[in-house]
Amino acid sequence: MSLTLIELAYLGAAALFILSLHWMSDPKTARRGVYAGIAGMIAAVLATWARPDVSAHTDVQRHLWVIIPIALAIWPGIWLSLVPLTAVPQRTALSHAFGGLAAGLVGVAKYFHWLHDEPDMLTPLRMGAIVLEVLLGFLTFTGSLIAAGKLQEVKWVPQRPWTYRGQNIVNICAFGVAVILGTALMFSAKAWWSPWALGVIVVLALNFGWMLVIPIGGADMPTVIAILNAYAGLAAVAMGFVLGNKLLITAGALDGASGLILSIIMCKAMNRSFANVLFGAFGQVQQAKTGAEQKEYKPETTESAAQILEQAASVIIVPGYGMAVAQAQHKVRELYDQLRKRNISVKFAIHPVAGRMPGHMNVLLAECEIPYTDLVEMEEINADMPQCDVCLVLGANDVVNPAARSDKTSPIYGMPIIDADKAKTVFAVKRSKNPGFAGIDNDLYFLDKTWMLFGDAKAVVGELVKHLSGGSGMH
Ligand code: TAP
Repeated sequence: MSLTLIELAYLGAAALFILSLHWMSDPKTARRGVYAGIAGMIAAVLATWARPDVSAHTDVQRHLWVIIPIALAIWPGIWLSLVPLTAVPQRTALSHAFGGLAAGLVGVAKYFHWLHDEPDMLTPLRMGAIVLEVLLGFLTFTGSLIAAGKLQEVKWVPQRPWTYRGQNIVNICAFGVAVILGTALMFSAKAWWSPWALGVIVVLALNFGWMLVIPIGGADMPTVIAILNAYAGLAAVAMGFVLGNKLLITAGALDGASGLILSIIMCKAMNRSFANVLFGAFGQVQQAKTGAEQKEYKPETTESAAQILEQAASVIIVPGYGMAVAQAQHKVRELYDQLRKRNISVKFAIHPVAGRMPGHMNVLLAECEIPYTDLVEMEEINADMPQCDVCLVLGANDVVNPAARSDKTSPIYGMPIIDADKAKTVFAVKRSKNPGFAGIDNDLYFLDKTWMLFGDAKAVVGELVKHLSGGSGMH
């Protein structure tokens, strides 16, 4: 393939990546966005394979170096794509770990290749790009592995923030040593000590990655993953400079920018300071306040709840992490159909950080084909809440906790919430008296207007549907 065609394929792939991100920002076009991303990646891989330095050779061995890794990598890729939706954050962290490792290894390989075969290529600029690539790549690798371990609740990875005195100073010193060594390398890339210096940078980066993530509680890992996504993107940009590959620079910049924007959006939605995320040692989950046990819950039967739902003119469902855990979305669709059949207005209140990843609720509800027009963002739905007859809080907790509005001592104070407490009647579905993600009580459950439907979200909604469709309940 001619170089012009390869460059055109790269340009097409870059355009597809940009369109993919654009389309993925709206549920209506998200699927198209995924296909565009896949098409862009296939074009990028094929164009790289067609490059003269790879395929112009008749040597079969060179092609095997491409075919064998692709054939091997497909299997973990397929395995990773099959994880349940609730495990997507840790799956994403693993993808970043692999991306970071690849960037770091390419940087080291390129350094030794140039050192032995083309020492003149090791200009200060290129060496600087290699150092950046190695630093960000290996840092992303160990940081993402720890993040994935925390989210998966792996036994040997501490879930609680793991801190010690002077942690930030140690981190800054380690980073400072890496920067000094990197700067020295830029100007003496061919010195006898340079390979050793690069080795020290690799070790420091590997250490720096896990040291950066270990002080952060498992609870805040999704935000950290978005930041690691940005680091992986920047490592790819540096790799693009090293390899002289414009597509890598474009794709890496897109990755880096989208990761950064996403982490800022998540910080805002969770009322966290972005600086805290960057410098670690945040996310100390506060102990649940005692007193929950003294307050009285009012349990209700699904039969009575179904009767009240039938009488309502408008119902707002607030889905949360519990709906995802129970995989209740298809039952929710049946409930939606039952209510709509009775001409009851049904809307879904979508909080930006409900669940455990951005867009978690949108994805689940799109899966069971709830019309997008009935998924309403938090700011918009809150205006309708006082007129709402029944608010069904389905496995949501923190995102409807009124303490975020009124209790200055609460760890979620300041987080915008869905005003479920302003509806006329509230039914809350959860399995137990356990708190949500932030580990705090929720006064919504103790209001006069709130009734608890204790049980697994899928089973409870299933019972509601049975009552509404005239079948026998099973409580
Ligand atoms: P949570 O506050 O985590 O509450 C989930 C609720 O679901 C709990 O009350 C739990 O109570 C219940 N539950 C769990 N499994 C269930 C099941 N099978 N059936 C019925 N109920 C079940 O969820 P939320 O309201 O969606 O809030 C999300 C939280 O995650 C926020 O604090 C947010 O800051 C945080 N977060 C979100 C993100 C993103 S991007 N979405 C990222 C980082 C952090 P039981 O155990 O009693 O059933």
